[in-house]
Amino acid sequence: MPTDPSKLHPNVTVIDHPLVQHKLTIMRRRDTSTASFRQLLREIAMLLCYEATRDLEIENVEIDTPIQPMQAPVLSGKKLVFASILRAGEGLLDGMLDLVPAARVAHVGLYRDPKTLSAVEYYFKAPEDMGNRRVIVLDPMLATANSAIAAIDRLKEAGATDMKFVCLLAAPEGVDNLSGNHPDVPIVAAAVDERLNEHGYIVPGLGDAGDRMFGTK
Ligand code: PRP
Ligand code: URA
Repeated sequence: MPTDPSKLHPNVTVIDHPLVQHKLTIMRRRDTSTASFRQLLREIAMLLCYEATRDLEIENVEIDTPIQPMQAPVLSGKKLVFASILRAGEGLLDGMLDLVPAARVAHVGLYRDPKTLSAVEYYFKAPEDMGNRRVIVLDPMLATANSAIAAIDRLKEAGATDMKFVCLLAAPEGVDNLSGNHPDVPIVAAAVDERLNEHGYIVPGLGDAGDRMFGTK
């Protein structure tokens, strides 16, 4: 069973919206196809994006409606960067960009060494002005958190100071590890599951997100 949200680390927000929970359950099912898995991840990403961007700044500007002038709110403040942790972050990125098409995108290529479970970087590319931007880091799975910590370390090296981490599923161990290493980075998740197994997989989880998205196993 997923962990009761009230018992979680204060850094975590669990999006317990019925649509998110329903779609997540279909994604968890062993027999869900690759095409459905990808489509559902894109749909959930839009709902997570809605919550993760709730605190964006707005300001009023003068516009003309067909009836009369008015003061109307528009986004202001720092521009957004979505930072996708490859490969599986790409599944969340599509839905996020559906909602915020003007956002810039950073890519952090990492894979998890299956023996040591440490993160190995193979690619990094980010916009130049990261210090002036609000960064939403994307990876469906927060297991040990080694990948998330390495990605956030790298983004901080590149100048980012204002970050959030958005995932689909987290393990309590990953939440503690990420919050301990980067207490300034709030976590948004659709669910926090029971634990990690001896191979570092989230239990009950949904398996390997990258393989399920791309049909590589
Ligand atoms: C998966 C997942 C995360 C990481 C989570 O990626 O997408 O990036 O594992 O595990 P962690 O919290 O223990 O680091 P994986 O290494 O399988 O690479 P892939 O996305 O290329 O399949
Ligand atoms: N990576 C995944 O894709 N799934 C897990 O359960 C753990 C790490």
